[in-house]
Amino acid sequence: MDKILVHGGVRLDGEVRIGGSKNSALPILAATLLTKEKCVIDRIPDLSDIHYMLTILGRLGCEVERASGVVQIRAEKILTEAPYDIVRKMRASVCVLGPLLGREKAAKVSLPGGCVIGDRPIDLHLKGFEALGAKVTVKGGDIILEATQLKGTRINLRGRNGPTVLGTGNIMMAAVLADGTTDIEGAAEEPEVIDLANFLTAMGARISGAGTQHIQIEGVDELHGANHTVIPDRIEAGTFLVAGAIAGNQVTITRCEPKHLGSVIEALKNAGFELSHTTDTVTISPNGFRRPLHIETLPYPGFPTDMQAQFCAMLATMNGTSVVTETVFPHRFMHVSELKRMGAVIDLSAHRATIHGVERLSGAPVMASDLRASAALVLAALPADGITEINRVYHIDRGYEAIDEKLNSLGAHIERVKS
Ligand code: UD1
Repeated sequence: MDKILVHGGVRLDGEVRIGGSKNSALPILAATLLTKEKCVIDRIPDLSDIHYMLTILGRLGCEVERASGVVQIRAEKILTEAPYDIVRKMRASVCVLGPLLGREKAAKVSLPGGCVIGDRPIDLHLKGFEALGAKVTVKGGDIILEATQLKGTRINLRGRNGPTVLGTGNIMMAAVLADGTTDIEGAAEEPEVIDLANFLTAMGARISGAGTQHIQIEGVDELHGANHTVIPDRIEAGTFLVAGAIAGNQVTITRCEPKHLGSVIEALKNAGFELSHTTDTVTISPNGFRRPLHIETLPYPGFPTDMQAQFCAMLATMNGTSVVTETVFPHRFMHVSELKRMGAVIDLSAHRATIHGVERLSGAPVMASDLRASAALVLAALPADGITEINRVYHIDRGYEAIDEKLNSLGAHIERVKS
């Protein structure tokens, strides 16, 4: 297993280019199952989660070609059963359920297992499929969906912890080929849902309201091939802004969408950083005066849960007491014990971290536990004394394209040790 060695104490300077959004690309790739015609998707990031999705599509019978960020897919004849050995590697595999049900009226996909950020049920996805008229069976570890026809319906997808992002995408993908009109209430408003709706619309779907809590889908008989460019990854962008905050003289992220970064930019400004932006860049520079923060994760446009760990790393090195409350995945605090190994002072109670900032963290061997937690450890290591050894970095390769090389291009000193 590869590990990363971060030599701490450097200052970052310069520009870094943001890649295509992982969380947009995954359901969009799955949506290509909805047509027999060729689809061409641009700005696909080079990540292991994308590799798993392309492997699943290949095993379902799609012809897949990939060259420098562009993926061409033709799903002329497809199977409806996704193989367990690949599906189990990535929870987002569940987003093939919607398009398989929409096109073939049948799907069999393994139930995703538990995950370190807590129990991650898919009851809302299944409730949506049932409302559209599918029979849902869970048997032998598989989810089996069967329908003779799908019928438009009204469904509320809001759960105990708010709306569901992949669930909204899954129901949209099933409903585009249903008879009649489907109204999704309590829909997720994330930019990734809008990106998926834009791709489906380019394929001939009739969707309105994406980006609000009420999405309406008028079913059509069939979809056709389409070309699409994936939106910039707002979480990669936010992570590099925090790198700039934690260890930067001045860092500019390019090819990003500042509008998608509102709550992150606001939090960084509240913490005392200077930020400026153009249409597709954001620059962060420290102004020498930092303030602790009270932040709470919320569905979009609120502060993203996928940026919570990185902010914990930043706040751990800033004077004063900050409070971080996690409402989307209440158990998502695996990074806290690893940050403590680096000298952070954090009290954890229920779904809240109280962070008492210290002057400096110190390098230590630590363990990456999930994607965003791993990024937080890399960020914490940048200004720390000494060397931080981060093990199990395959987590980080799931969602960050060459994070070590990109940070090194800004002046960091990170080595990847291949096993
Ligand atoms: C997506 C993102 C993930 C992000 C999350 C929240 C992808 C590939 N992943 O995950 O990076 O952290 O949105 O912004 O896009 N829930 C239920 N029942 C369900 C589904 C979800 O109770 O059927 C709960 C979850 O446990 C969680 C909350 O709803 O508490 C939000 O989860 P959800 O939006 O579904 O996350 P994902 O779409 O899986």
